[in-house]
This record gives sequence, structure tokens and C-alpha cells, in this order.
Amino acid sequence: MLRLASLSLLSLISAQSLTLYTGDQTASTATSTASAAEGTYTGLAAYDPTVLTPPTPPETPVTSYTLTLPSNGQAVLDQGLSLSIAQKGNFLGFSVELSIANSLMGSSSTNMKVPFLNYMANIQNRAGVGPVIRVGGNSQEGSTIFTGGLEDGAVLDKIKVSSGVTDTPLINYSLELFYLMGNITSLVGADWYFGLSFNESAVDSPTGNVPIAAKWAQDILGEHLLALSVGNEPDLYVDHSKRESGWGVSNYVTEFDTMTQSILADNNLIDTTAFIGPSTCCQVEGFELDDVFNAGWLTSNVDNLAAVSVQHYPTNNCKINGNVIDPQAIFSDFLNHTSAQAQVSPYLTNSQTVLGVQKEFIMLETNTASCGGFAGLSDSFGVALWMADYALQMAWGNFTTALMHVGGQNVYYNPFTPPPSTEAATKQWTTGSIYYSTLVIAEAFGKSNQSKVVDISPSTDQDANNIYHPIYAVYENDAPTRVVMFNYIDDSTGANDLQTTINVGTATSSVSVRYLRASSVSEQYNITWAGQTLGTSFASDGRLYGEQSTVTIQCTDGNCVIPVYAPSIALVFLTEDALSNSTPSADATTEYETSIVGTGSATVDKQALETSNGQSSSKNGGTSKGNSSSGAISRITNVSTTTIGLVLAFTGGLLSLVM
Ligand SMILES: *[C@@H]1O[C@H](CO)[C@@H](O)[C@H](O)[C@H]1NC(C)=O
Ligand SMILES: *[C@@H]1O[C@H](CO)[C@@H](O)[C@H](O)[C@H]1NC(C)=O
Ligand SMILES: *[C@@H]1O[C@H](CO)[C@@H](O)[C@H](O)[C@H]1NC(C)=O
Ligand SMILES: *[C@@H]1O[C@H](CO)[C@@H](O)[C@H](O)[C@H]1NC(C)=O
Ligand SMILES: *[C@@H]1O[C@H](CO)[C@@H](O)[C@H](O)[C@H]1NC(C)=O
Ligand SMILES: *[C@@H]1O[C@H](CO)[C@@H](O)[C@H](O)[C@H]1NC(C)=O
Ligand SMILES: *[C@@H]1O[C@H](CO)[C@@H](O)[C@H](O)[C@H]1NC(C)=O
Ligand SMILES: *[C@@H]1O[C@H](CO)[C@@H](O)[C@H](O)[C@H]1NC(C)=O
Repeated sequence: MLRLASLSLLSLISAQSLTLYTGDQTASTATSTASAAEGTYTGLAAYDPTVLTPPTPPETPVTSYTLTLPSNGQAVLDQGLSLSIAQKGNFLGFSVELSIANSLMGSSSTNMKVPFLNYMANIQNRAGVGPVIRVGGNSQEGSTIFTGGLEDGAVLDKIKVSSGVTDTPLINYSLELFYLMGNITSLVGADWYFGLSFNESAVDSPTGNVPIAAKWAQDILGEHLLALSVGNEPDLYVDHSKRESGWGVSNYVTEFDTMTQSILADNNLIDTTAFIGPSTCCQVEGFELDDVFNAGWLTSNVDNLAAVSVQHYPTNNCKINGNVIDPQAIFSDFLNHTSAQAQVSPYLTNSQTVLGVQKEFIMLETNTASCGGFAGLSDSFGVALWMADYALQMAWGNFTTALMHVGGQNVYYNPFTPPPSTEAATKQWTTGSIYYSTLVIAEAFGKSNQSKVVDISPSTDQDANNIYHPIYAVYENDAPTRVVMFNYIDDSTGANDLQTTINVGTATSSVSVRYLRASSVSEQYNITWAGQTLGTSFASDGRLYGEQSTVTIQCTDGNCVIPVYAPSIALVFLTEDALSNSTPSADATTEYETSIVGTGSATVDKQALETSNGQSSSKNGGTSKGNSSSGAISRITNVSTTTIGLVLAFTGGLLSLVM
């Protein structure tokens, strides 16, 4: 495991080009998280060190497999398989709960969290497009915008916080939130979904609050606002006492109409193809996506919809009626290809319907389990494999985007979590295993925006252990360019390593491979993507550390034998172009501000963490943001990338560089 001690950091820095560091690295070394006995940990879920027992490997290993790779799209069809629509490298993105948007992204438009920017820049550098981020969730429903700013000058205030995982606070937010999002876009190219409050009394309130929020979101974010989400999991409104019993699909359709018409009234919006819904989630009888479609919702709203959304968790940790699920008992459910298929197949007819009206189909919120996920499961390496499989399966099923939910410190499933505010001065961020899945997906699709994917997994007659060995192939310009191969089996002895032979044609003498690896599916933190890691708990600044490792495999007569270790993902690049189209470019550093926080550049100033976690009641007390920072961010662009010892500081709320 990489320790962020000064020496190794300096050697890493000199190997890469840049940069910005915090001076005292000793404070950020890893804390031991190894193997606390179950039950002894009483801290916050996001840092829970619980490790599950991996499933035993199959008794009879399968050690070799020959992949027949169709040479073009027609050959894919001829094998009885289907290629997806063209996908982008930012397919797998993030859904940020509104109530924690400030603790994750920044306390103002001039005080952004550098680790967050780094996590996002890693995607942009691989995908060629910025990440897709949704801000919303349960907490959007009780939200109110104050265009004159909040009394404390904040991005948002939580009015009521209760202890339950999905109990939602009321939120007051200000324009500063949109400016913060806009500034994140200017650095890392993010595109946004934003959740409005679905509340008729808020529409009819004297201020007409929801239409005001919609207008400002569009005005400030412009083309980077993908859509405004109207209604979050309306199929659960009755259950969650947000509507009277008996409220159903027809009421929903009427309210959706009232809400969107009030937003569109008086030419309030510049872009009227503005909305996304219905975000149904939970297979509630009579309130599924099909029921919403059958009620005429899609047809009557098609002109004002940017996309159609659903939300989905395979299981839950809600402990409904005392029904407690034991994570150990369900761990193996996440460790084979059947799960990814089972999550996606119910949506295959829907995705065709949505494509048929030329709209995008979005998984607006997903993760391992609702109500916070599970200790040892949601943060395991095995689930990082699962999330990549599930994402590729959604991409194959013609979803256009899938967003992993990020909650607070009381959940297990976060892709990244800031340190608790009481410890911010000494600790850094914690990377969740599923963050690595976004890197795999970004590189599997690369920068062309033209990647079509096919699930080409083995069948039982060719591989008795086939459920553990899913395979996807990516096609660009009608030719295969990358292959993603999984091995879900936990077997460090090597007995279950799979040697997969791919025939690439004699014109190719070698292929390149990058691996997602850990020693066990139970591992939480010692995970590498192409040899690089984001480290253990409380140790990440959002950058990848270590030498990037790309393995070259020599092929004989066009046959390339790729080891797929148990457990791992092997991403095979069939051409040099495919490899370079997935690789962060070395000169990205001179072109954009993003380069400064991307490609292993910036790290966080401890003082910035301290002040931006809201301990010191702060800073720029102003209301809606003025212009105090405009020059500061762009100044970073001009920094020479060879100097070691810059400190990216946020003193006084201003982003500034201190030599
Ligand atoms: C991390 O994993 C690697 C390979 O699985 C192993 O060699 C190394 O010892 C592990 N490091 C720690 C700190 O556990
Ligand atoms: C709807 O908005 C009103 C007034 O703005 C607020 O009092 C109420 O709590 C909101 N209802 C829900 C379900 O969030
Ligand atoms: C935030 O909301 C509360 C209640 O919803 C309200 O009383 C208060 O004035 C608001 N705070 C502001 C504008 O900062
Ligand atoms: C594979 O996953 C499915 C679906 O999650 C689960 O029902 C099944 O038990 C798993 N199979 C094995 C052998 O673990
Ligand atoms: C996805 O869309 C493409 C293009 O329309 C189509 O050929 C393919 O069959 C669809 N895939 C699925 C699984 O529906
Ligand atoms: C991919 O799409 C984005 C818009 O989402 C665009 O900015 C970018 O230029 C496209 N890339 C290529 C290679 O066409
Ligand atoms: C920018 O800030 C200055 C000084 O605070 C102020 O006079 C000016 O009006 C501001 N401009 C804008 C566009 O807010
Ligand atoms: C950041 O946001 C402020 C508004 O608060 C704006 O004046 C400034 O230009 C933004 N900076 C960038 C780089 O977008």
C-alpha cells in the first residue's frame, strides 16, 4: 500500500509533471484499518473497516477460454448478439445528495474541494468529456432557493437533520450553489442534472419558488445543465408520507404537468427541453415506469423532456419491519454476472421505448443497496467488479448514463467521502472501491463518444464457471477496439486464473492490458487500477499514486493469451489508437485549468479542508456571489508545471497560489 510519506510523494511528483502539495505529508499517512473484528467498530459507516469473508472458489477451476470476437457490427448480429448505441467515457458518473453538496464540492464558488476536483478530473482525462453529476435525491423535495442569499452566506443550509439514513432535512440553498457547480464545470467539464422540489404548494407559494430555481439553474449553468429533475422516487411518496394515501400515477401525471407548466410560464426558461423524470425506483405495484408511460406521461411531455430517468438499488439496508439483511449472506449475490443481467433486464423494453422518442434513458441514482448500503460489502473490491459489470450491462442495454449515489458519512457505499469535519485538519478523503469502476468504464469507452458495447460473455458449454467470467467487447467505427474481461472468483492461489485467448488477426503482433486488481474480493482499500491506487481510508487527495502500468501481451499468429487473474478485471486495448484514446494525455497540463488539478497534480491544503468543512463560521459572508474570485482560478493556468512546492490554498475563501 502506498504511503503518502514525503519521500515517496516527492519521487512520485518528479515522475509526473507537477506540483501542488501540502508541505506536511506525515499528517496524511494512512491510519490502520485492517481487520477490526466485526462489532467493535462504532464510528461512521463511511470509514467502517469491516471485512467480509470471500466466497469459496468453485471446486473445478476453468483455466482457459477462447473468445470468438466478431470482426464487425454485422458479425455481432450474426452471432445473435446486439451492439448498444454509441456511449461516452463519462457513462458512469455520480449522484450527489443535495444536502451534502457543500461538504463534498465546496463551501462557496471560490472555495472548492480540491480532492473532489481531482476525482472528477481523473474521469475527464480518460473520457475526454467531463463527468456527469446529479445534485438531488430525497433532500431535493424539501428544498427552497433564496436568490438573495442565505443569512450565513452559505451554499446551502440544512434546516432539520435527523438521524435516520434517508430521513431528509429541509434545505435552503442560494445561487452560490449554482455558481459553485459552474466553477466546477469550468475546471473539470462537469455536466449536471439538478433536482427541483416537487411540491405544488412551493409552486403556488407567493414567491413561486420552484420556477425561480429552474430559471437560475439554466441561466448560470447554461448548456452544462443537462436537465432539471422533477420528482424523486414518486412511487414512494405515499410510503414516505409525502402524499396522502391513494395518491397514484394519475395524480403524479397531473402534478408533473402543473409543475412544469408553471416553470415554463412567461417564457421563464431559455431551453424548454428542460426536464427529466419520472425517477421511479422501486417496483411499486401500479406505479412502475410502464404505468407512467401507459398514463400518457411520455407522449404528453415529450417536447419538454431532455431525458427519461429511473433509479434503482438491487437490495436495501432499511431494516423494514425488523428485517435485517446480513451482508455476508448476500455478498455472493454481487459476485457473478447474473446480478448485472438481473438488474438491467427489466428495463430493456423501456429503453427501446425511450430511444424510440429520441430521448436519453438515464439511471439517475443507483448503488449497491438503499438505506446506506452494507458494511464490508458496499466498499469491497468485489463490488467494484460488480459495479463495472452492472455499468457495462446498462450501457449494453442502451441506458445513456448511470450515476452512483454519494451520501453522507453515515453510508457504506460512497465512491469518495471527505473526512469528518472534526478530523479535517489531520485527515484526507476516503476512496470507496466503486470509484475505481468509473476509471475502468472511462477507459473502456475512451474519448471517441462512439463506443458501442456488446455483452459477449461465455456460455455454460464453453466455460462451466461462466457466470464468474463476463466479457464485453467495445466497437468503434465498426471494428472491435477494446475487450473487458472479468474474473469474480476469489482465489489468490492462481488456480482459478483464466487464460483467455483472443484472436485479433495476424496484422496485430501485440495488445495492451490494464488491470483492476486486489488480492481478494473482500479487500477495501488495497486496490490498483493499472498499478495505481487512491490509497487507504483518510489518505486520498483524489489523485492516483504509483506508476501507471500497462502490460504488453505478444500475440502468436494473431492469437493473444490474456491472463485474467482471480479476482480482477482485464481491459484489453486491441490497437494503439484505442490505448491512446483512453489514456490521460501528457500535455493536458498546459492547456486547461483542469490539468492543474488533474493528471496527478494538485493536492489539498489541510487548512482548506479545515475551513471548508464548516467548523469556522466563515469567510466571504456575501450573499449571491460577486466577482471576487474570477481572476484567481484562471491564474493557475499559467503556473509552470515543473515547480515542486506550490501550495494551493483557499485562505480567506479565495483560491490563490502561494509560492
Ligand atoms: C497490497 O496488495 C498487494 C498485492 O495484492 C500486496 O503485495 C501488498 O502487500 C498489499 N499492501 C498492503 C499494505 O496490504
Ligand atoms: C412543500 O412546500 C411547502 C411550502 O414551501 C412546505 O411547507 C412543505 O413542507 C413542502 N412539502 C413537502 C412534501 O416537502
Ligand atoms: C431557511 O428556511 C427557514 C425555514 O424553512 C426560514 O425560516 C429561514 O428564514 C431560511 N433562512 C435563510 C433565508 O437563510
Ligand atoms: C449469482 O448471483 C445471483 C444474483 O445475484 C444469485 O442469486 C446467485 O446465488 C449467485 N450465484 C452464486 C453461485 O453465488
Ligand atoms: C440498443 O439500441 C440499438 C440501436 O438502436 C439496437 O440495435 C439494440 O438492439 C439495442 N439493445 C438492446 C439491448 O435493446
Ligand atoms: C464528445 O462529446 C462532447 C459533448 O458531450 C464533445 O464536447 C466532444 O467534442 C465529443 N468528442 C468527440 C471526439 O467528438
Ligand atoms: C465586482 O466587485 C466590485 C467590488 O466589490 C463591485 O463594485 C462590482 O459591482 C462587482 N461587479 C459585479 C458584476 O458584481
Ligand atoms: C466562479 O464563480 C464566481 C461567482 O461566484 C464567478 O465570478 C467566477 O467567474 C467563477 N470562476 C470561474 C473560473 O468560473
